[in-house]
Amino acid sequence: MKKIAYVLMVVVLLFAIMGASNKTSKAGKSSSELVYKSAIKKGFKVKWVVTGEKVNFIISAPCKGWVAIGFKPSFMMKDANFIMGYVDNKGKVFVSDEFGVGPTRHTPDIELGGKNNIVKYSGKQNDTTTEISFTIPLNSLDKYDTVLKPNEKVYIILACSDSDDFTTKHKERTELIIEL
Ligand code: HEM
Repeated sequence: MKKIAYVLMVVVLLFAIMGASNKTSKAGKSSSELVYKSAIKKGFKVKWVVTGEKVNFIISAPCKGWVAIGFKPSFMMKDANFIMGYVDNKGKVFVSDEFGVGPTRHTPDIELGGKNNIVKYSGKQNDTTTEISFTIPLNSLDKYDTVLKPNEKVYIILACSDSDDFTTKHKERTELIIEL
């Protein structure tokens, strides 16, 4: 009888240990565990996290149309790597990888001979705000994208519009220096 009680105790203990270790590994992989850095300016909220060779950005802007970020422009909007996005009335999300072809102009990379290097994206909007989340490689090797490095200080420009049309000019815009 004592032997059976002992075996039962060992089995219960083993299950307890397995349960505990399972929980730990699941939590370790959970995306909610990622530590985002963040910045806020003029109603724009930017959150970012570098994971391996990629970086994920979550950008929320005080507009109901497109939202965009531009990395490392050389002058105004020129030479920036732009990621633009919007959420349509049905909740469908559209994104575009673009390049600053002039001080006030941008064109999709695919129209310039480059590629759309956005790996993953999502978004949502309410009556006042649009939020776009996207993941891009730190170095896509595309000449119409910017090379980013972990911990690097990066000059970014942010803009948004109440129109979903990517060619409509911004309603709001700002700029920031963030540390990746
Ligand atoms: C949708 C097409 C766009 C048009 C037609 C457009 C047009 C313009 C124009 C005419 C200016 C100069 C006048 C002003 O300061 O308002 C300007 C400046 C600027 N734009 Fe855009 N823009 C567009 C998209 C964007 C995007 C996507 C961003 C950033 C993500 C952006 C960021 C800026 C910034 C930061 C400036 C000021 C630059 C400076 O004064 O140094 N623009 N834009």
